Amino acid sequence: MEKTLQSYTQILEWYSACGADTLMSDVPRNHYIDNVPGKFSLKALAGTFAEKHSAQLEQMPLQNSPLSIKSIPAAPKINSPTNVAPRILGDIKSPALSDDHGNHPAFICETLEQLRSAMENAKGCDLIKAATHTVFADGDPSARIMIIGEAPGADEDRVGQPFVGQSGQLLNTILATIGLDRKAVYISNIIPWRPPGNRPPTTTETNYCLPFIHKHIELISPKILILLGGVAVKTLLGRSDGILKLRGQIFEYTMRNGTTIAALPTFHPSYIMRSPSQKAQVWKDMLILKKWLSKNLD
Ligand code: URA
Repeated sequence: MEKTLQSYTQILEWYSACGADTLMSDVPRNHYIDNVPGKFSLKALAGTFAEKHSAQLEQMPLQNSPLSIKSIPAAPKINSPTNVAPRILGDIKSPALSDDHGNHPAFICETLEQLRSAMENAKGCDLIKAATHTVFADGDPSARIMIIGEAPGADEDRVGQPFVGQSGQLLNTILATIGLDRKAVYISNIIPWRPPGNRPPTTTETNYCLPFIHKHIELISPKILILLGGVAVKTLLGRSDGILKLRGQIFEYTMRNGTTIAALPTFHPSYIMRSPSQKAQVWKDMLILKKWLSKNLD
């Protein structure tokens, strides 16, 4: 391949093919001060970058670049759940139920509509700039079961509702095994905006969204939380053990007013799509839920 401007453009296209569909930034920005445009297309960026640096690019030998075209492997398929690499979660410190979030917009919300609007107008997290929708919730706000996932994927971002893609279909099937209809529960996520390329949310993003989900739980006030996957469990229960160890046990989640709610961690549907041998564990967890419901709800 010729070492030209075109090959640099191809590098950016390769990132795009790998799922990096949005340029955020490689340096921190203060969005309270900067007036930064919300979205950048990688393709457009490649063009701008190439135009700006064409003279240097033409002279720069590609083999000296850390991104030599020869060393770039074929783009992985990103849509098949079996091709998704296992995620390693950061050390999320939680639950932060104190007021150490300062004037977080969640604190003044008294209704679900106010909370939705506060989230739609949030300024403290870059994810909102790249998202098509703020994915708020789905289901019955008077439900006694609240299901909490991690963050919207591409389908959820497009439609504006949680768990509508492949993992959502599996979630519906899982609920149906114990006779639950998705419309009879309430579903939301720790993070309401899609992380670009479906990467796991960072600790900073999770911490910013924490008061939103705390307030959301408080306003729904369910009897039991079903926490799907490691991010939801770490964020809301603040346990250092992983989901493999915690799933299938009933914990207590304490709200800001001191009231406790039961919380059952289980595997995230996308994890069992990647590791179907773990399906049986989720089925066991659903039986635990069924038993808990029959004992604790009329
Ligand atoms: N995965 C999640 O954690 N939430 C969604 O809404 C969709 C997929």
